Amino acid sequence: MSTCSIKVDYENPQGLATAWARVSEEPSQERRRVLLAELEGLLAQRNAVLVAHYYVHPDLQDLAEKTGGLVSDSLEMARFGKQHPATTLVVAGVRFMGETAKILSPEKTVLMPEYEAECSLDLGCPGDAFHAFCDAHPDRTVVVYSNTSAAVKARADWVVTSGCAVAVVRHLHEQGQKILWAPDRHLGDYVAQETGADLLSWQGSCIVHDEFKAAELADLKTKMPRARVLVHPESPRSVLALADYVGSTRGILEAAGDPAVETFIVATDNGMFHKLRQTYPDKVFIEAPTAGSGATCKSCAHCPWMAMNGLENLRAILDSGTPEVTIDPALIDRARLPIERMLAFTQAGAPRATGRVPHLGAALTKFREG
Ligand code: 13P
Ligand code: SF4
Repeated sequence: MSTCSIKVDYENPQGLATAWARVSEEPSQERRRVLLAELEGLLAQRNAVLVAHYYVHPDLQDLAEKTGGLVSDSLEMARFGKQHPATTLVVAGVRFMGETAKILSPEKTVLMPEYEAECSLDLGCPGDAFHAFCDAHPDRTVVVYSNTSAAVKARADWVVTSGCAVAVVRHLHEQGQKILWAPDRHLGDYVAQETGADLLSWQGSCIVHDEFKAAELADLKTKMPRARVLVHPESPRSVLALADYVGSTRGILEAAGDPAVETFIVATDNGMFHKLRQTYPDKVFIEAPTAGSGATCKSCAHCPWMAMNGLENLRAILDSGTPEVTIDPALIDRARLPIERMLAFTQAGAPRATGRVPHLGAALTKFREG
């Protein structure tokens, strides 16, 4: 099986840095059939459930659903993994998703087809620099996006995903709290605009969504006036301004169900098109433009780290059971609190906390000194 390495430039506090993603070639049709049959057996043998993100290969998404697992956005992946009775969670996505699963279910074995599947937002927000940023602004409530390491989550008062960021920050703003936000600057900008919150943001970005181009999208809209535009909020403000709907991957899937609309232009990773077309076979989905002035080799609208997940490495990890996702237990104890806050906040019908939501500072001090 041949593998190619993709060089990826991403933003970090020092400027541009480089990371790598290794993507393997597709198995032949015959090998694919063998692998899919074996994987069903291996999942059952290990009492394992497969939880996949919408951006991973269609074969993994279909296998997850066929075997009683889930395909969803990062919020529902976290909730499902925590609630599911399987003793092993297999997370097809990127590292922060596997880590979130482990933090919420430390008693379970958590495996990933590819543990080195990174995320530019996570890489661009190192724990020590982020802790220094928080130390410089102790009066702010720390809200971090789930696309971060366990060390960053351990410093947060709240963890949010794109599915609940606006609701959580609005809630905090209504209580008069000022926000320190990390790491995605576009999502932070969008949340501040939607809620009116005083929000100080880290300056990270997603290498995939940062590439959508507003001028070309505006041209496309003019050519297709009946199409509606669905945009993930990691995209730049100029692209969000052209959207008919802004939301998480799951939100995009739901918005595409509008019976009055037949054609959608979609600005998110093109892995999403599998589930969109499967769910709405009579509708037309068009990729929002990424090429244009300033386009680079990153402009394929597909996350190179999500692309690292495949049937072969899933089989290898289920066969060997290693490496497991492991996190320092002290970090787990601290990082779990803000994630559980998010899950409680977003639970259907959950009572909303009233009054000022306390900072988690005391637990943090203990963690840092311990
Ligand atoms: P969602 O939470 O919307 O699935 O997004 C996760 C992600 O990594 C988007 O790039
Ligand atoms: Fe991270 Fe962007 Fe990939 Fe999502 S698409 S995992 S935000 S790099």
